[in-house]
Amino acid sequence: MDGRAIRVEKLTRRFGGFVAVNEVSFDVAQGEIFGFLGANGAGKSTTMRILCGLLPASSGSVHVAGVDVVHDPAAVRRSIGYMSQKFSLYLDLTVDENLKFFGGAYGLFGRDLRGRRERVEAQLGLAALGSRLVASLPGGIRQRVALACAILHSPSIVFLDEPTSGVDPESRRAFWRLIRKLADAGTTIFVTTHYLDEAEYCERLGLMSAGRLAALGTPIELREAFVPGRMLEIHGVGIDALRRSAAGLPLLSVEPFGAALHVRVDRDGPGADDLRRALAAAGVPAQVAETGVTLEDVFLTVERATIAGGGG
Ligand SMILES: Nc1ncnc2c1ncn2[C@@H]1O[C@H](COP(=O)(O)OP(=O)(O)O)[C@@H](O)[C@H]1O
Ligand SMILES: [Mg+2]
Repeated sequence: MDGRAIRVEKLTRRFGGFVAVNEVSFDVAQGEIFGFLGANGAGKSTTMRILCGLLPASSGSVHVAGVDVVHDPAAVRRSIGYMSQKFSLYLDLTVDENLKFFGGAYGLFGRDLRGRRERVEAQLGLAALGSRLVASLPGGIRQRVALACAILHSPSIVFLDEPTSGVDPESRRAFWRLIRKLADAGTTIFVTTHYLDEAEYCERLGLMSAGRLAALGTPIELREAFVPGRMLEIHGVGIDALRRSAAGLPLLSVEPFGAALHVRVDRDGPGADDLRRALAAAGVPAQVAETGVTLEDVFLTVERATIAGGGG
């Protein structure tokens, strides 16, 4: 498999005249945590379903775990685990029963199934919950049960489609610790998320925008490529007032960032003090601090560039 768990070349998927995935190409290395980001409708789930052999491609080539998925979609299922965007657990069955059901779907029965079930339950902290009805469990635990079902057959690649959406922050943290452990043990992780803090946990990221892969790289590479320079965060002033007051300073960009503003400056451009002085001189007592470039800054820059470029 040449160290690459996933190889996608010029993957395109149309729905009628609409192009949901547009000539997307990327590789994922074995044991890598690869994050797939993008706004709703960007084409993440469609791409993932094609990689899992659940939806045919319109054109392009896809190799997953050494299998040519376009020509033999069924053959890839053995090597992969898939956690869909809406977990497909049976609420009226217990945790054990769900695992038995999904195990059966992978041809696991009897002692083999029991051994694997006990192992993943222990691995994911579910050992004491086997006889609980899934309906009675909170979201964070259901999410772990869904992961258990997806990894029961020891797949070499796990696909997780927004596994943490709607789950509380504490459970999200715990879930990512489990993902990290899986990857450390050699499992390749392909995960979509719209939580940009989670994207920081990924070794490499692909940013989807309107069906196209608009950016690809490590979090550090993406920051340097798309948001070079330094970032200043300003509280207490609106965008127009800032532009007026700091008209004499070379600001590369000014963007709203929650309730604050993010101002990008050159590496040797103005500092927090310069900006604070300019604002004070204009009668605007704003708070200014040097801050790091976040993936949200990258995301906004990429999205804007795609929209400005006509975005496919
Ligand atoms: N079966 C389908 N038929 C028609 N359009 C679809 C179908 N599945 C997805 N789409 C469209 O393709 C686009 C990408 O969807 P999706 O891959 O689910 O995006 P994401 O997961 O990034 O939110 C959306 O505009 C969606 O409406
Ligand atoms: Mg989706």
